[in-house]
Amino acid sequence: MIIHVTDQAGENHELEGLEGWRVMEVIRDWGLNIKAECGGALSCATCHVYVDPAWTDAVGKPSEEEEDMLDSVGDVRPTSRLSCQILMSDALDGLKLTLAPSAGKD
Ligand code: FES
Repeated sequence: MIIHVTDQAGENHELEGLEGWRVMEVIRDWGLNIKAECGGALSCATCHVYVDPAWTDAVGKPSEEEEDMLDSVGDVRPTSRLSCQILMSDALDGLKLTLAPSAGKD
């Protein structure tokens, strides 16, 4: 299955991932600019992405813990999610998202 990711420089990437993978892992393993410092433990917010508005319903809402982590970044938006908390599934095949500036390596 495929996800479409726009990086911080505005470049589009089509990435292939497997069902059950975290979206963060797919982005990281393809070498895009994502820190993901805690490795998916929901304790860093450096895997921050903006979900395309057409996909927010399919992706669903963040948990309370995720919202608390998102509150710690300065560039949060209504469509913000932490990509380690989104699992690849058939329903998300074709997902579009953009890497937030705060997810990038310095
Ligand atoms: S990788 Fe740390 S919260 Fe997602």
